[in-house]
Amino acid sequence: MEMRRLAGEDVPVVGMGTWKTFDVRGPRETGAHAVVRAGLDAGIRVFDSSPMYGAAERVLAAALDGRREEAYVATKIWTPDAADGERQAAAALDWYGRVDLYQVHNLVNTRAHLALLERLRDEGRVRALGATHCSAGAFSELAEVMRSGRIDAIQVPYNPRQREVEREILPLAEELGLGVLIMRPFGEGALTRRPPSPEQLAPLREFGVETWGQALLKWVLSDPRCTVAIPATSRPERAAENAAAGSAPWFGPEERKLVQALGP
Ligand SMILES: NC(=O)c1ccc[n+]([C@@H]2O[C@H](COP(=O)([O-])OP(=O)(O)OC[C@H]3O[C@@H](n4cnc5c(N)ncnc54)[C@H](OP(=O)(O)O)[C@@H]3O)[C@@H](O)[C@H]2O)c1
Repeated sequence: MEMRRLAGEDVPVVGMGTWKTFDVRGPRETGAHAVVRAGLDAGIRVFDSSPMYGAAERVLAAALDGRREEAYVATKIWTPDAADGERQAAAALDWYGRVDLYQVHNLVNTRAHLALLERLRDEGRVRALGATHCSAGAFSELAEVMRSGRIDAIQVPYNPRQREVEREILPLAEELGLGVLIMRPFGEGALTRRPPSPEQLAPLREFGVETWGQALLKWVLSDPRCTVAIPATSRPERAAENAAAGSAPWFGPEERKLVQALGP
């Protein structure tokens, strides 16, 4: 799998999200553990979570038991309240030992949380800082935080049906040298529900693409400004399928256009 530089470290370009898929309890937690193990075995290293995702942070931590050093954990603070942010950070540090990339989720109370995260970074408990937003309406605010020089990475949505980041956010990330995590590469699953036929995907086979999911991931990752895509899955076999999309050859403009035309 190809590596790209995220906040000073080389990481594989396919990671894994945990929204919904890891908000599980009881016997279903075993299934989430199997997804993480399959992902690690396939070379996935970046795992993204948040206190917003219910049990996901805790379930991810349990899934990484014994293999924590193989993972690059990206999680978030998500609360308007500064004291609550401290509690979220204490819980995450207890679960993960250290947080590799700590992000402010959806720019909620960025000012207070960045101060906390900078302190934790100075103490060596956090390695890099980031900010996320899922809505294009907040991209000008995100751009301001990017320009502040206080963060190392951003997390934004990007897929053939959601391309607003191309206007300002990706060029700015490139100019500032920031890492870019891509959320929602499958549009929360909306883009994968009715996949094109194998015949329609045939021109992409020479690029190592066997499935529609891989075509969508390669569409994202063929833009070198995108550092890591973090698709979520509840199925171990899909963790390996997604990981396999993380290597060259990358699409050129023609292949990207084809994927755009094939999608829903
Ligand atoms: N504001 C924020 O910071 C924010 C907002 C949204 C998301 N995120 C992060 O980004 C991550 C990814 O986004 P997302 O979870 O919203 O959506 P996504 O990754 O675009 O889509 C997830 C869906 O795709 C399906 N899927 C996965 N691999 C597939 C494959 N190879 N073929 C076909 N279908 C496949 C999964 O179903 P199965 O389970 O059946 O495989 C799941 O329903 C989140 O988990 C979260 O970590 C962050």
